[in-house]
Amino acid sequence: MSPCLALAPALALLALASCSDDPASPDTCPPTEETLSDTHRPAYHVTPPTGWMNDPCGLVYLDGEWHLFYQYNPTIAVWGTIHWGHAVSKDLVRWQHLAPALKPHETLGMVFTGSAVRDRHNTSGLCPGGCLVAMFTHALGKDKKEQQSIAHSTDRGRTWTEFSGNPVIPNPGVKDFRDPRVIWHPESQRWVMLLASGDRAPMYTSKDLKRWTQVSTFGPIKGLPPGAVWECPELFQMKGHGKTRWVLKVDLNVGMGKPGSHGRYWVGTFDGQTFTPTGEAAGTRLDWGEDFYAAQLFTDAPGGQRIWIGWMGSWQYSLQSPAAGWRGAMSVPRRLAMRGERLIQVPVDELKALRGGCPPVVDLSGDKVTGESKLLDGVRGGSLELQATLKLSGGAGVGLRLLRDGKGNETVVGYDAGKGELYLDRRRSGEVSFHPGFAARHGAPLKLTDGKLDLRIYIDRSTVEVFTDGGAVVISDTVYPNGGKGLGLFAVGGEVLVASLKIWRLGNKK
Ligand code: FRU
Repeated sequence: MSPCLALAPALALLALASCSDDPASPDTCPPTEETLSDTHRPAYHVTPPTGWMNDPCGLVYLDGEWHLFYQYNPTIAVWGTIHWGHAVSKDLVRWQHLAPALKPHETLGMVFTGSAVRDRHNTSGLCPGGCLVAMFTHALGKDKKEQQSIAHSTDRGRTWTEFSGNPVIPNPGVKDFRDPRVIWHPESQRWVMLLASGDRAPMYTSKDLKRWTQVSTFGPIKGLPPGAVWECPELFQMKGHGKTRWVLKVDLNVGMGKPGSHGRYWVGTFDGQTFTPTGEAAGTRLDWGEDFYAAQLFTDAPGGQRIWIGWMGSWQYSLQSPAAGWRGAMSVPRRLAMRGERLIQVPVDELKALRGGCPPVVDLSGDKVTGESKLLDGVRGGSLELQATLKLSGGAGVGLRLLRDGKGNETVVGYDAGKGELYLDRRRSGEVSFHPGFAARHGAPLKLTDGKLDLRIYIDRSTVEVFTDGGAVVISDTVYPNGGKGLGLFAVGGEVLVASLKIWRLGNKK
């Protein structure tokens, strides 16, 4: 064991300074203090260079590169004139911005959300040597007439040619008709595509990505928020424990300005034409925060991995949130797995590279906490990873104070034993007055086994993502602290054993 990890709890706070066997060179370590003019811009989450960002689009892995396209207004940090922005990464965690991939079309309109696939064998007839094909929604005019179009790229997504026959699926006379998600279905040797349209998800198949036939519809479903408009569907196969299951996800938009839009998933079977749910009739909530929306999987991720990224924003308030020439961020990439019928989301291992090879700045084990603890006094950081295993006894609750400014502003992540829920409380997290619904506490039902609470928290200046129960329960929220970077720990109504608590600073230096 490294001497850094063997230090007594109190001394371990000094670990970074005192580790002589630290293999990392000091300049790969994320900075201990930073002076930033743009204090809300995340250090390791993707944000637009300038302008507005919402949904991830066209996520695809090709020849060693992860491609992240996204809903992008390059000129101003509000939604409008939507393009597909483009960023690429070799390691999933450090991203480079490229020129926008798709621009609004003169007669068909803006470029809404969609997906990208690799047409290896030129099924489309568009590219003899194979290419990337993107399918997306063109949205025109005040009424946003929505129809589906395609474009292809033969130069690793750098430039795109729009198909001369667009739209490939004209609007059939409905208001909401968007967000095509294409997958290849090898058994039927067809492309399958799922759309979101009002309170349902129509499914289509095609042999050439140009001519589409509707084969089924998923939904409507009883028990969902009334009036919610479905958006950004996903359909994918999950293998695990000798079982193959299919998962269908949609996002429910409950309306501009309103709280509670969120993603839901159903587990079931799929025969190439129809998805049949086998589990919970109303599906399961993906994330209990307000800011994880429109998640999309990377097509063709190596080894069949299922990895997705969501937009950390919300139609409730993102048009009003504090901005410094940019607005919107992506979540960390999350690797998916199944535990029984539950979808598990775990931040990808690649994120460890952001530690810069440096040891944790906090490394505690065995400490007991009652009331307000001093264990994290003096620890500061706006971009952190935190991992903890806490044992709660005698009905105790526990909480971590994050992004504290010492004047009572902080984001609290904790477990409320009375309610049996994990929560993120941002009621006094800094700037909260820009929208009446922002100052909220978000709770997720959580039953502990033997009082054991596992936590993984990714903090990045204005984003907080909390994973517990091995990734089965997640809360993702944005916050706008007024420069607060302090930390704290407390127990309520009993004693909490800190079985382990580690905190790393994260940066994005190569
Ligand atoms: C989801 C969404 C999509 C649409 C896009 C427009 O956040 O409303 O349904 O395609 O954003 O930017």
